[in-house]
Amino acid sequence: MNIIPFFSYGFVTAIILSFSTISAAIEPIRVVLEFVPDIDNGRRTFDICARCHLPEAWGNDDGTYPQLAGQHVNVLMKQLLDIRSGRRVNPSMQPFVQERTIGGYQNLGDVVAYISTLPMNPDHAKGPWPPGSLEYRGGGEIYQSHCARCHGETGEGNNELLYPRLQGQHYAYMARQARLVRRNLRKVDPSMAALIGALSTEEFDKVLNYVSYLPVPQADLAPDAQWRNPDFQ
Ligand code: HEC
Ligand code: HEC
Repeated sequence: MNIIPFFSYGFVTAIILSFSTISAAIEPIRVVLEFVPDIDNGRRTFDICARCHLPEAWGNDDGTYPQLAGQHVNVLMKQLLDIRSGRRVNPSMQPFVQERTIGGYQNLGDVVAYISTLPMNPDHAKGPWPPGSLEYRGGGEIYQSHCARCHGETGEGNNELLYPRLQGQHYAYMARQARLVRRNLRKVDPSMAALIGALSTEEFDKVLNYVSYLPVPQADLAPDAQWRNPDFQ
């Protein structure tokens, strides 16, 4: 009985999405997630994603593919919608998230719900300077003054406000994203873009290195790096 209003509301707001700013984008994502997720369907749909993001959704160390496991559901959904519409440029993935390939909002919601059942990579790729090294110093101060108010004191992000979790993400992926923001090639919150843009090269390198070492809570991690997703064995 409720499906039709959700569908039509989702449709109307999704049209607004392609013209709108980040805060206005929150609404359609909530609408999409009003669907009761079907995890089994999500697992089947994830098959296509696994070809690039791997069956564990851990991505890869060189950062070509980001880790998806552990990311907030609303953030995943927003990225899917942005990539689908071309708002976020991702030519290799874009064909796989079109309505004709992956289906409507229900399927998107299902795949996101499935991803949220997966544990995170316990050994994600880190930056060049480990804690204790001379170069590591200073990154934490820049993070707390420039990034923590959105991404959280420990990089936990915020599902409601669509701030990505940075904990556990591969260093090379984050560095690439931050460089895209710096060069204005990925649209993000304008205040993040301004903050990132104002950093010196040294500050930029230090803060991204620091972020890559933010610890991930034990409870969110797979037991070890050899863990393989049993759904894809
Ligand atoms: C052909 C390879 C490919 C396929 C298939 C693919 N992706 Fe991706 N995906 C990528 C690449 C590459 C990126 C990172 C692009 C960049 O660097 O901006 C990405 C980024 C993402 C992001 C953004 C993550 C973040 O933290 O910002 C999400 C979410 C995502 N993919 C989900 C999916 C889902 C769900 C599927 C299956 C429906 C899927 N992808 C299928 C290649 C792929
Ligand atoms: C005003 C809030 C805000 C501040 C401050 C901010 N960010 Fe962000 N950041 C965001 C939002 C929002 C996104 C996701 C944009 C989108 O929807 O594509 C993001 C995305 C990112 C990403 C890409 C994550 C992914 O999974 O794709 C990285 C890396 C990042 N921020 C690092 C930083 C760093 C480092 C700082 C401090 C120098 C910082 N951010 C400051 C709001 C902020």
